[in-house]
Amino acid sequence: MERSEFLKKMGIGAAFALTATCLGGCAVENVAPETPGANGTVDFTLDLTAASNANLANTGGYVIVNNSVVVGRANDGSYVAATRTCSHEPRKEVRLRNDEWYCTAHGARFGLNGGGLNGNGRNGLKIYNTELNGNMLRVFA
Ligand code: FES
Repeated sequence: MERSEFLKKMGIGAAFALTATCLGGCAVENVAPETPGANGTVDFTLDLTAASNANLANTGGYVIVNNSVVVGRANDGSYVAATRTCSHEPRKEVRLRNDEWYCTAHGARFGLNGGGLNGNGRNGLKIYNTELNGNMLRVFA
């Protein structure tokens, strides 16, 4: 085998290896639509009398909807909602903690208004609106 032929074959092999490695290891988490709906918009309603939403009966409680949105009960009794996907890295680990949004991955902290409270939270967090109608809580963008 000629040297140039060998290098040519190795180049193809190396390029394939790099591509295969990056496809498997460099891909970010598959970020699903932020909603139970198919169109990618957030607009859903929670029945607060449902057992699955019992955590919202008390301040500090929260529920996760479709692994995309976290809905919580702030210390003042209001309902708050935010994306579950952190702005530090696209990991879905945001939850309510100590009356602020907190990412368990690397400790990013966000105020209830989405503003960053520390270095990992500096890019802020997407917040959703909430609207209470009787026992029905609407969450929407
Ligand atoms: S992914 Fe949330 S703090 Fe890093």
